[in-house]
Amino acid sequence: MKGIILAGGAGTRLYPLTLVTSKQLLPVYDKPMIYYPLSTLMLAGIRDILVISTPTDLPRFRDLLGDGSRYGVRLSYAEQPTPAGLAQAFVIGESFVGGDAVAMVLGDNVFYGNGFTRMLRDAAANAGRATVFGYAVEDATRFGVVEFDPEGLVLSVEEKPKIPKSNFALTGLYFFDRRAADFAKGLSPSARGELEIVDLMRCYLERGELDVKLMGRGFAWLDCGTQEDLLEAGEFVRMVEKRQGIKISAPEEIAYGQGWTTAAELAAAADRHGKSTYGAYLRRVADNAVRQLP
Ligand code: DAU
Repeated sequence: MKGIILAGGAGTRLYPLTLVTSKQLLPVYDKPMIYYPLSTLMLAGIRDILVISTPTDLPRFRDLLGDGSRYGVRLSYAEQPTPAGLAQAFVIGESFVGGDAVAMVLGDNVFYGNGFTRMLRDAAANAGRATVFGYAVEDATRFGVVEFDPEGLVLSVEEKPKIPKSNFALTGLYFFDRRAADFAKGLSPSARGELEIVDLMRCYLERGELDVKLMGRGFAWLDCGTQEDLLEAGEFVRMVEKRQGIKISAPEEIAYGQGWTTAAELAAAADRHGKSTYGAYLRRVADNAVRQLP
């Protein structure tokens, strides 16, 4: 399975923060935002990952993440010239994906919760179908929304409906089978001129091949679209990390935990982080001084 991180867009809602930098490079407490979606794909066991961003911002992502070897993964990069919709990522990434199944995560989505890795592994193993995730939110008008019948069967998916048919938002994490690019190429732009991710989901829904898994109570899903969201995500990460003494979404730690890098490589990664608390943490993980949690 291949992975895509979509980290483009104009970021105008965050101006002036994003006047000269990409939203997905802004800090979420102690690390750049893109570390979180990168970690999500790595936890799913995905090691071939394409980062898509704007022509202006893409070099900065390359500077930050390199070829991925530091994280035991292979990173590729592709430009999205204009933000023409989330589903366009599968068209841009078609040759990279090369007929495999593919997972995509939005570059501003943060996930955290017990059982997340299991959930990801199950979605990655759901061959020949699509898996997306529903999350209860207070204001569903801001999101893609999924409607269920009383038996839990998916009835519809809609993008930012004025009157939502449920309070379940669709998160920015999508698992599709090998048909994703073909379906995406067959889509027409919506009224707002975008290739919509819900339209791609509908291709699977119409065939009875869309699975929506709910992320339950105690599970955190945060996106970082506004100043408020960004601050809240940072506060959440700070609070949990401080309380538990472990880091959320440190890709170097995840790579080590997966057996993709050695303790020596992790120690070298720690050294690259100078006197930061992040570096000190990686050093403790390399010394096996941080007990890994389930
Ligand atoms: O965060 C979850 C939500 O993400 C879902 O519930 C929605 O169904 C989905 O459409 C999306 O909604 P947003 O309002 O967050 O979409 P937005 O257009 O802001 O794009 C999401 C991220 O993707 C954003 O960080 C910018 C980036 N992006 C967006 C578009 C349209 C791109 O990189 N390229 C694009 O073409």
